[in-house]
Amino acid sequence: MALMKNYLLPILGIFLACYYYSANEEFRPELLQGKKVIVTGASKGIGKEIAYHLAKMGAHVMVTARSEEALKKIISDCLEYGAASAHYIAGSMENMTFAEQFVAKAGKIMGGLDMLILNHITKTPVKLFTGDIPFVRKIMEVNYLSYVVMSVAALPMLKKSNGSIVVVSSMAGKIANPLLAPYSASKFALDGFFSSIRKEYSVTKVNVSITLCVLGFINTETAKKAVSKVFKHEGAPKEDCALEIIKAGALRQEELYYDRSILPSLLLRNPGRSIMEFLFLRTFNVEKLISN
Ligand SMILES: NC(=O)c1ccc[n+]([C@@H]2O[C@H](COP(=O)([O-])OP(=O)(O)OC[C@H]3O[C@@H](n4cnc5c(N)ncnc54)[C@H](OP(=O)(O)O)[C@@H]3O)[C@@H](O)[C@H]2O)c1
Ligand SMILES: *[C@@H]1O[C@H](CO)[C@@H](O)[C@H](O)[C@H]1NC(C)=O
Ligand SMILES: *[C@@H]1O[C@H](CO)[C@@H](O)[C@H](O)[C@H]1NC(C)=O
Ligand SMILES: *[C@@H]1O[C@H](CO)[C@@H](O)[C@H](O)[C@H]1NC(C)=O
Repeated sequence: MALMKNYLLPILGIFLACYYYSANEEFRPELLQGKKVIVTGASKGIGKEIAYHLAKMGAHVMVTARSEEALKKIISDCLEYGAASAHYIAGSMENMTFAEQFVAKAGKIMGGLDMLILNHITKTPVKLFTGDIPFVRKIMEVNYLSYVVMSVAALPMLKKSNGSIVVVSSMAGKIANPLLAPYSASKFALDGFFSSIRKEYSVTKVNVSITLCVLGFINTETAKKAVSKVFKHEGAPKEDCALEIIKAGALRQEELYYDRSILPSLLLRNPGRSIMEFLFLRTFNVEKLISN
């Protein structure tokens, strides 16, 4: 106990102070000025707030979701807030052809791409898993596969711009979540894929950053409705959450932990995993890896 109090806690405190200092130090809204950004799942919730922040920073904004009416309103708001341009293309991320063509069209309309913010999810019931296999397939396709499809379609443009991929995930993508097993699986999949791809970009010198956003409970209408019976507290503010997501992407951070409590940021960073990944990568023959 004394050891913990005298050494571990102060060290942890210094580590965190450094982390937060460096994370918040350099961000300026001008970093987004004139940048070409895609935001998915932008008809409401966190995605909509991300689009509004980007507009106020003077970015080119391209939004998507299924609800055309909501998107129309959002792009007119974005123009009012100062977006360099604002467009929408409506469609469903259950459709991989749409996902792919959306990115291509967005790139044509904006004349390139600097940041791809992947945020949409399919509607998720909070309940025990009782064997609904079609739902597991659907949630993996919408929450995970469409993210992969869009990042593949966007990569040539992102390479040209030294751009960024921002993946909105959840604590459920880092820890076990009873009542949300299929959702949790889809979010873990994002970590497995995008964290692996990040290592590949690093060894093959692809200068496209990948930011995984690990969010706690956020006060969007959907989330409040879904978990009001499970959680007593209100959730963290979606406007502030959206801003932190943009900041982390612009600063090319590998991960963002956002929650009303500091615990996830303290406990989920997993230095053991980082050390294992470092050691594991050292056993690879990098020359061979690149020539493959
Ligand atoms: N809120 C939280 O507590 C919380 C916690 C942790 C992580 N997150 C993550 O944060 C992100 C945003 O969450 P949120 O609470 O803001 O969600 P939300 O308010 O429910 O918004 C979801 C968005 O996805 C779109 N969408 C749904 N089904 C779609 C489909 N088939 N094809 C295309 N778009 C579809 C919705 O628009 P349409 O219905 O118009 O298509 C909407 O714009 C998600 O990745 C979520 O996992 C949220
Ligand atoms: C999927 O999207 C493509 C491209 O937007 C579209 O042509 C096609 O009709 C869609 N398929 C379905 C089943 O909606
Ligand atoms: C991308 O980064 C490289 C290396 O720093 C630089 O030479 C190049 O000009 C950058 N390209 C753009 C579009 O920023
Ligand atoms: C990667 O791109 C960023 C953003 O343009 C730039 O600041 C950085 O210098 C580039 N890094 C390398 C290694 O080219």
